[in-house]
Amino acid sequence: MGNCGTREESAVAAAHVQVQNVQLPQQAARNSLSGKKQNRSFSEMSDPSTPRNFADSRNIAIYTDMIAFTLFELETITKSFRPDYVLGEGGFGTVYKGYIDENVRTGLKSLPVAVKVLNKQGLQGHKEWLTEVNFLGQLRHPNLVKLIGYCCEDDHRLLVYEFMFRGSLENHLFRKTTTPLSWATRMMIALGAAKGLAFLHNAEKPVIYRDFKTSNILLDSDFTAKLSDFGLAKAGPQGDETHVSTRVMGTYGYAAPEYVMTGHLTSRSDVYSFGVVLLELLTGQKSIDKTRPGKEQSLVDWARPRLNDKKKLLQIVDPNLEGQHSMRAVQKACSLAYYCLSQNPKARPLMSDVVETLEPLQESIGANGVPDCRMNRRLAATSMGCRPIPAAKCSSPGAVAACRVR
Ligand SMILES: Nc1ncnc2c1ncn2[C@@H]1O[C@H](COP(=O)(O)OP(=O)(O)OP(=O)(O)O)[C@@H](O)[C@H]1O
Ligand SMILES: [Mg+2]
Repeated sequence: MGNCGTREESAVAAAHVQVQNVQLPQQAARNSLSGKKQNRSFSEMSDPSTPRNFADSRNIAIYTDMIAFTLFELETITKSFRPDYVLGEGGFGTVYKGYIDENVRTGLKSLPVAVKVLNKQGLQGHKEWLTEVNFLGQLRHPNLVKLIGYCCEDDHRLLVYEFMFRGSLENHLFRKTTTPLSWATRMMIALGAAKGLAFLHNAEKPVIYRDFKTSNILLDSDFTAKLSDFGLAKAGPQGDETHVSTRVMGTYGYAAPEYVMTGHLTSRSDVYSFGVVLLELLTGQKSIDKTRPGKEQSLVDWARPRLNDKKKLLQIVDPNLEGQHSMRAVQKACSLAYYCLSQNPKARPLMSDVVETLEPLQESIGANGVPDCRMNRRLAATSMGCRPIPAAKCSSPGAVAACRVR
């Protein structure tokens, strides 16, 4: 996850000083949970579109397949929120692992879960909690994490999700102790996450996710990627509207420059954030890293000029990936990242085009976790099995950039 001090941050700070002033005490409370949260941006305390009081939560009952848990049940599930059950900590609060079984409530299916507990200090927390329940309660897709239930008792706010066995992409990419992800797995994760975003953008009532980043991409046991954290999600523009106007929120290093500057939110802002994550997957480097020399601290600024220069491409690709990919696949993936990161939002591809571009870059992964094409190469001394299938014709009128990617 990125840190403060980027160009984007200065821009946000300049454009939203007023919001920052209102927010600081609460933001400080959230940040005090964990140092790593300090990159989260400002909140929309006065956004009239989102209900704020408890009475608004009663509508949740309409999402019939979600379970309303009591606090006592969640204490049973997490063994009284045992410290050694903590999975992680974010801006919203602490996440615990837990297990639902017959002892919790008769008739409940046995399954492992993750329980997120809202940190009570922040007013913003209830709003994000409600947004998450409202969006995830209605949306179902293989690349969105499933919200199993919630708890809304007195001032306690909790969320219960399906348990994602491999945790976040952030941990797999950036924790020194984990085995580096293979090229095939990275491309599979990119495709899964892209499908999740495409689903949101193409929904009957389109949704802008607004907080796309590696810590919000969770991985199942087979590395299926699922988007979590819908606290910042926003209904997309309707009818003739070209954008939604909002206070700037999101995470430094991932937010699109035009959104940071104007507060005008479109689905193309998510496409930019996707480009940042794709770049992180390709380079193995964080979007913002203050330990790098000055000009290299912003991954996008450093890598973008190299992304469409065939001679310089290999300078930026993660050295851990050496020998695992064809040059052509790297070029295509880098080119896709380049267009997603276009300064001009209209030059960015649609997420459905991103999905189409990534599909031919998929390689099957063998039972032992080694991509099949690598094994083929070892056996047959040829990389032909890895060659991408020719891309399907680009059909969308707004997809010029994505077509060029191919
Ligand atoms: N459903 C889940 N299954 C397994 N682990 C989870 C699940 N949800 C969250 N986690 C773990 O908890 C950590 C904290 O998640 P959380 O979403 O609260 O914070 P974050 O994504 O790091 O930051 P932010 O608040 O900016 O989103 C994640 O990084 C992940 O490791
Ligand atoms: Mg998160």
